[in-house]
Amino acid sequence: MAKIGIFFGTDTGRTRLIAKQIAKKLGDLADVPVNIGRTTLVDFLAYDALIVGSPTLGDGELPGESTGLSQPSWEEFLPQLAAVDLSGKRIAIYGLGDQKKYPDEFVDAIGILHNVFADSGATMLGRWPSAGYEFKASRALDGDEFLGLALDQHLQPILTEERIDAWLTQIKPELLR
Ligand SMILES: Cc1cc2nc3c(=O)[nH]c(=O)nc-3n(C[C@H](O)[C@H](O)[C@H](O)COP(=O)(O)O)c2cc1C
Repeated sequence: MAKIGIFFGTDTGRTRLIAKQIAKKLGDLADVPVNIGRTTLVDFLAYDALIVGSPTLGDGELPGESTGLSQPSWEEFLPQLAAVDLSGKRIAIYGLGDQKKYPDEFVDAIGILHNVFADSGATMLGRWPSAGYEFKASRALDGDEFLGLALDQHLQPILTEERIDAWLTQIKPELLR
């Protein structure tokens, strides 16, 4: 069976650790997580089922050179997708943020990534309820739901594992379809 590809961006490594945690839980179903700044479009497009992760940095932005990273990340990778048809790809997003310090742009990167992939024709999976978080605004929201799994390793690290488990239970059958 074709494997699930896991791609992440990160500044201080938390999103990478979550990628590894997700990969471990998926076992043989997933390949080793790859930093999006160190991959190619061809390697990314080799997968039909993808889990992608990103922190929100700057002022509700994707990681990349504008947010002070010295390595390329999502900001540099995404423009390559502009001319690509992602129809047939199934993509679920998880995002890390800090709802207490950034309540007006909590996990915005989930919304930014979602729009790019959805606009290119991908089938988006893994919506997640926004109940249980305290924030004012987020570009990741659609009604009462986030467009992907929101994780807060600052305020709610204790909830992360159960959130990941429930989310994977939800998306696994859809990703592997
Ligand atoms: C400079 C800076 C800006 C940030 N901006 C946001 C933000 O706009 N929204 C948010 O939810 N979190 C924001 N965060 C919190 C990060 O998303 C959070 O610390 C995350 O866990 C970092 O993941 P990483 O270790 O993979 O880089 C910001 C953090 C930093 C250091």
